[in-house]
Amino acid sequence: RSDGSFYAEIGGSPTFEKIVATFYEGVANDPILRPLYPEEDLGPAAIRFQLFLEQYWGGPGTYSEVRGHPRLRMRHQPFVIGEVERDRWLHHIGVGLDSVSLTAEQRQTFWAYLVMAAHAMVNAPENA
Ligand code: HEM
Repeated sequence: RSDGSFYAEIGGSPTFEKIVATFYEGVANDPILRPLYPEEDLGPAAIRFQLFLEQYWGGPGTYSEVRGHPRLRMRHQPFVIGEVERDRWLHHIGVGLDSVSLTAEQRQTFWAYLVMAAHAMVNAPENA
């Protein structure tokens, strides 16, 4: 908690790297989600997601230096995201959160944000 950010409080970059790596292991083996990812190599997508989360939680602003304004809903427009996709996404990121040591309160803080953000990303509700 050197700078008071949630990013620092939960252990900085190694914590985010582990969460995102675990999430993408789940995605790589998910027959519903994997086809949504345009690139054969999930490595670059993992880096983008990790940098975004680090920036969101008060870490380095590298995501926006590289990618510009997040505009996440717009960036997800090419992918058909219904409630099924949303819930599988949430399942895998939940496994990611469980792969690091967080206090119950820290996990709840992180999780509440992800649930809110994932609901906002649904662009094909009729797909549910
Ligand atoms: C990118 C799927 C929710 C953050 C992507 C990509 C896909 C995807 C297919 C493209 C991968 C790439 O090449 O970067 C989904 C699905 C979701 C979901 C199915 C289910 C609800 C979220 C949420 C967040 C998020 C809730 C944020 C908390 C990102 C970021 C990128 C990304 C930061 C990279 C954007 C860029 O810079 O191009 N997502 N996503 N996604 N997603 Fe999601």
